[in-house]
Amino acid sequence: MNIQNKHTADANTAEESIAIQKEQAKFDSKSATDVAMQNTLLTPRFYTTDFNELDAIDVSSVREDWDKLIAQMVADPNKGHFKKNEDWDHVDWDGMDPALKKEFIDFLISSCTAEFSGCVLYKEMKRRGTNADITQLFQLMARDEARHAGFINDALREAGVAVNLGFLTQKKKYTYFRPKFIYYATYLSEKIGYARYITIFRHLEAHPEHRFHPIFKWFEEWCNDEFSHGEAFALLMKTDPKLTSGRNVWWIKFFLTAVFATMYVRDHQRPAFHAALGVDPNWYAHEVFTKTSALTRQIFPITLDIEHPAWQPTLEKLQRANVDLDAARKRGGVIGFIGRLAAQTRAATAFARLYFIPTRTHEVPTSTRLTPAY
Ligand SMILES: [Fe+2]
Ligand SMILES: [Fe+2]
Repeated sequence: MNIQNKHTADANTAEESIAIQKEQAKFDSKSATDVAMQNTLLTPRFYTTDFNELDAIDVSSVREDWDKLIAQMVADPNKGHFKKNEDWDHVDWDGMDPALKKEFIDFLISSCTAEFSGCVLYKEMKRRGTNADITQLFQLMARDEARHAGFINDALREAGVAVNLGFLTQKKKYTYFRPKFIYYATYLSEKIGYARYITIFRHLEAHPEHRFHPIFKWFEEWCNDEFSHGEAFALLMKTDPKLTSGRNVWWIKFFLTAVFATMYVRDHQRPAFHAALGVDPNWYAHEVFTKTSALTRQIFPITLDIEHPAWQPTLEKLQRANVDLDAARKRGGVIGFIGRLAAQTRAATAFARLYFIPTRTHEVPTSTRLTPAY
């Protein structure tokens, strides 16, 4: 394999894609990798799990839908798509407003880390498993995520920064999650990822004057990959009805609340980025929550009541507590410490308030499969 002349967009496996990215690593910058190394509640993490339990899943109860989905992924419609071509407009990084540049680079680094986090987890499952269905799925998903991460790294490299993915694989801390938590968290991150990318894509289709970077043109095919990954996790959960009933519904509610709240708080840290896109982050959050809720009805028996009168004001409280927490951390000393405790208490109270807003329940459809419709 001549990796010097290959692009991650054409890689057939995650391993090949990572080898290409290692080759490019001489351009990688320390500051971007440092940002990607951070482990806070709001930054993307790397996960590990009980791979044997995952490997033991029997997909025969969902065989028909499973085979269709896998065939679609094997056909690989996005092969070669994730690379710069004539649609890639010149980016004036030097002329970009410094606040926007900082937030946008932060957005790219965090997206790249999230994509790569999926790649690492999926690749590991494929490596350790013996179940042909499971290893095939995870190999296909790892392939996609490696391409996505490689493409974001292309964009970052133009700005003179790039994340050293090889270094991250070895040095970033891995968080252990039991398989069922991996299903909830990963399923949700794939579906919310789809909802986020398609909402931005459709918005910029209507308002191309706000497309300040060419990468957004790639978001449609991109989100279709995430959509398929979400479909796969929905099918995996479907094989065991216990995962989406009884006490586990409380876990589902927890993950829905945590994922929505994290997105809200994190997006509000990037006002210049959203202003440049011409997007009000409150509108965007509501739009993404609405789409994600509609999608997750395919497998989760509940949705969060995002129209509840307490929902939005409590999210805002959580976000303000987070801003104060940040300020207290930077301040340091005794005052900073007290400020931190106070802000943490407010954040925890707000999260608990969100969590205890009654959910909406519905009948889960017999057939799980959906197609991207937004
Ligand atoms: Fe991805
Ligand atoms: Fe994905």
